[in-house]
Amino acid sequence: MLEKRKPFKNKVAFISGGSRGIGLAVAEKFAKAGCNIVFTYLRSRSDAQEAEKHLAAHHTRVISIRANMGNPEHIHMIFDTIKKEFSHLDFLLHNAATGDLKSVLNLTDAEWQRTQDINVKSLLLCTQYAVPLMHNRQGKIVAISSHGSHKCLPSYCAVGVSKAAIESLCRYLAVELAAHGINVNVILPGTTDTRSLRHIPEYEEMIQQAKKKTPMGRIGKPEDIADIIKFLCSEESRWIVGQTIIADGGFSLIG
Ligand SMILES: NC(=O)c1ccc[n+]([C@@H]2O[C@H](COP(=O)([O-])OP(=O)(O)OC[C@H]3O[C@@H](n4cnc5c(N)ncnc54)[C@H](OP(=O)(O)O)[C@@H]3O)[C@@H](O)[C@H]2O)c1
Repeated sequence: MLEKRKPFKNKVAFISGGSRGIGLAVAEKFAKAGCNIVFTYLRSRSDAQEAEKHLAAHHTRVISIRANMGNPEHIHMIFDTIKKEFSHLDFLLHNAATGDLKSVLNLTDAEWQRTQDINVKSLLLCTQYAVPLMHNRQGKIVAISSHGSHKCLPSYCAVGVSKAAIESLCRYLAVELAAHGINVNVILPGTTDTRSLRHIPEYEEMIQQAKKKTPMGRIGKPEDIADIIKFLCSEESRWIVGQTIIADGGFSLIG
């Protein structure tokens, strides 16, 4: 009965890229609901430490791991840690992404490969390690796409292709993993106010345009996306399998 009222309590979530932005908002929602958190970060140890401190207020276990999701050995190490510390996993949240914003004619082989490795291959590898840890736990896997998966955004080719591949991979995973009682889905956020956007030179103009073109009259907040990810990890979403859920305040209906 208690388990039913607090379905996230004492569960374990792994979030790639949980030190800021959408990943941190997800970590916050899950920790608040009593879930233990393992998250990765890459560049900023201080962001990760601040996130850990912030999440500690919810009195669940929080482990941050510096790891590059594009490195298979790092992924092995992450899941080794999860196995040692918890012996199981309930939620795999594939959030970290990268990509060089360049025209198709200027993309190098190395840039292309790095983007596909971090954004797509890591999801496959994480899933292969996660499934045995989800045995008999009705695990949930949620990955994050973007409108660049189906629209051609300027200089976004390498990332856009990787996001399309994530959506496709999730459909294959969803079909195979249904037999293991695991749900796999994708969320596709519209423009969401995180620090990654602020590096874009046309940031202010982009935000104004996005607001104008969004029926809800604002851009997304990380918490908007985190709430839907939490729903996709809940028992209530059990019948949603292999879908890409657009969450953009109506932007794509008129944009
Ligand atoms: N923001 C948007 O408007 C928007 C829209 C659609 C989709 N999305 C998607 O939503 C996801 C999160 O976006 P966001 O804006 O929240 O990102 P963000 O604020 O830039 O945060 C990225 C997180 O991922 C970590 N990270 C980056 N590269 C990594 C790597 N190779 N290995 C491990 N960790 C890594 C970062 O850690 P460090 O800082 O330490 O490197 C940070 O914790 C991405 O998949 C993105 O494509 C975002």
